[in-house]
Amino acid sequence: MIKVAPSILSADYVNLQKDIEKVDQGGAEVLHIDIMDGQFVPALSYGPGWVKAIRPITKMVLDVHMMVEQPERFIDQFADAGADIIGVHVESTPHIHRALQMIKNKGVKAEVVINPGTPVSAIKPVLYMVDQVLVMTVNPGFGGQKFLPETVKKIAELNELKKTEGLNFDIEIDGGVNDHTVVGAYQAGATVAVAGSYVFDADDPVSRIKAIKDATK
Ligand code: DX5
Ligand code: ZN
Repeated sequence: MIKVAPSILSADYVNLQKDIEKVDQGGAEVLHIDIMDGQFVPALSYGPGWVKAIRPITKMVLDVHMMVEQPERFIDQFADAGADIIGVHVESTPHIHRALQMIKNKGVKAEVVINPGTPVSAIKPVLYMVDQVLVMTVNPGFGGQKFLPETVKKIAELNELKKTEGLNFDIEIDGGVNDHTVVGAYQAGATVAVAGSYVFDADDPVSRIKAIKDATK
């Protein structure tokens, strides 16, 4: 069964605590927090202050997805705010190795992220040092986009590398995930599914978490 990570990007910001408690009690293991800088991606979202505010209200794993140019500038702030996992895009810095080292030096789990147009080979040299790989299943920047099925073969490729190279990392998918699109990704080796609009746009978010889990039994 896949772990579910609701993305607060699609939550009700005015009633954020209520939404977070709902998915927490509804069986989600991870809370996905999208950081957008208006440069690496067109949109702006929120910063370390949000992570700090959320930290005391849930025991869920806080998974910070940085869609930020030069992420090195903010890694310490997100770690100090209480992030459990920090993800940096390989496309966002010429120094991906250093960025991942910075995350690990803070005692936080390190994640490398690849866009749909980026091959697995681009992150091969750093796979030995990460706790999680995030395979974007849409182009980052917005919620509610359509899952790109061509990304699934990269999940299979990563899963194969785990076996052949003796590596150990979670494989997360993000973008357009629902109870249908999650199936092929899960079969290919995905272990964590981010879901924003599918969960929070529903009248009953808990039933959507359950639907994703049921589809991957
Ligand atoms: C998109 C973000 C996602 C977003 C997913 O750039 O990284 O985490 O919240 O939203 P859905 O699940 O609606 O595609
Ligand atoms: Zn995300």
